[in-house]
Amino acid sequence: MAIRKGLAKPIGSLTQMGTIRLGKRTESRTPAIRDFVPLAGLDDIVFGGWDIFEDDCYEAAKTAGVLDAPLLEAIKDELSAVKPMSAVFDRQYVKRLDGPNVKKGKNKKDLAEQLIADIRKFKADNGLDRVVLLWCGSTEIFLTESPAHKSLAAFEKGLEESDPTIPSSMIYAYAAIHEGLAYANAAPNLSADIPALMELAQKTGAPLAGKDLKTGQTLIKTIIAPGLKARLIGVEGWYSTNILGNRDGEVLDDPESFKTKEESKKSVLDYILQPNLYPELYEALHHVVRINYYKPRGDAKEGWDNIDLVGWLGYKMQLKVNFLCRDSILAAPIVLDVALFMDLAKRAGMTGIQEWLSFYFKSPMHAPGLYPEHDLFIQSMKLKNTLRYMKGEELITHLGREYYD
Ligand SMILES: NC(=O)c1ccc[n+]([C@@H]2O[C@H](COP(=O)([O-])OP(=O)(O)OC[C@H]3O[C@@H](n4cnc5c(N)ncnc54)[C@H](O)[C@@H]3O)[C@@H](O)[C@H]2O)c1
Repeated sequence: MAIRKGLAKPIGSLTQMGTIRLGKRTESRTPAIRDFVPLAGLDDIVFGGWDIFEDDCYEAAKTAGVLDAPLLEAIKDELSAVKPMSAVFDRQYVKRLDGPNVKKGKNKKDLAEQLIADIRKFKADNGLDRVVLLWCGSTEIFLTESPAHKSLAAFEKGLEESDPTIPSSMIYAYAAIHEGLAYANAAPNLSADIPALMELAQKTGAPLAGKDLKTGQTLIKTIIAPGLKARLIGVEGWYSTNILGNRDGEVLDDPESFKTKEESKKSVLDYILQPNLYPELYEALHHVVRINYYKPRGDAKEGWDNIDLVGWLGYKMQLKVNFLCRDSILAAPIVLDVALFMDLAKRAGMTGIQEWLSFYFKSPMHAPGLYPEHDLFIQSMKLKNTLRYMKGEELITHLGREYYD
């Protein structure tokens, strides 16, 4: 809303500030991405959502304390108008939270139907053509695939029977995909990443993306690790720790929610460094990830990385990274990008997992049998080539003559 009023710049957003090179380098064709593909404009977006707290967006933003008061006051009217719908929530899945704005229903099927009714009403009340749903709710406890997740029939039976392996995020995902909406998951919990909901997406034509936005320490990790690997520098240890004091940090202080996050954060190095191909360099890697809730920091997260390197003739070196970041400031531009690209995917008839959006996620959803791509630079190339492909432009592979043009 601040950006739309011209009060601030959309820094960090590829859809708002990024460009894309087309054709040969000698052609000098580099349009803005938002001019190249038909993305929804910021003025055409209406925001809505659910929360277990009743605060409107202005109140919630004040409590979060991320934005400065003058900026918040300048958009107070617009923010106050966004009031949360009552949520589908069960403390069983997020132990550290509780709030009053919660739906009641006779079973999980009933709750899903209430969400579907909310979506339809939101669309009608605001005169919208399309809706995208992004799960930005808290991290739920660690769950693995259960029998109720295996097929759509089993899942719908599970909803009727309020199967405990169906957490709130899956009920939202079901409602969105049932309506054929693009659905993306900003959090690390399974949500739509189960066969039952993929089956439903194929039926309704819903694009899917997730999981867990790649914003802070993991973003830096997937920038540095491909560089070390490209130069065949050995890594024998990577210790990552964080302190943060926002509500996300409070939820992650619960070991069961942290386990979900830890699994998501730890997988990246194995795929980037390929210890199976380079056992002498990476097989012994000891990778540790910690998150500590520390209230005084609020949203101003601090991450430390200690990387133990091995160079020529086996000599040891160290690299230290200290990232003083802001959790929400890093996440906001990519929430916007994911929403706009998912909307584009839906209009382009692209159904199911959108691997070209792996660029934005710590544990990208991927087709069964394929490994996820974690290297930020390969992810970026894949994203841009998908946009070129959509518009019938030549793909850029940096191979052959093209490279020297
Ligand atoms: N940099 C980032 O902010 C970042 C990066 C990657 C992933 N994530 C993930 O995104 C998610 C949200 O992060 P955040 O920092 O915005 O957290 P937050 O605590 O500020 O916001 C989450 C909101 O979700 C609400 N909520 C929880 N369960 C709900 C439910 N069932 N229905 C409706 N509302 C519900 C909470 O009340 C809270 O207001 C977390 O899983 C987090 O790990 C955030």
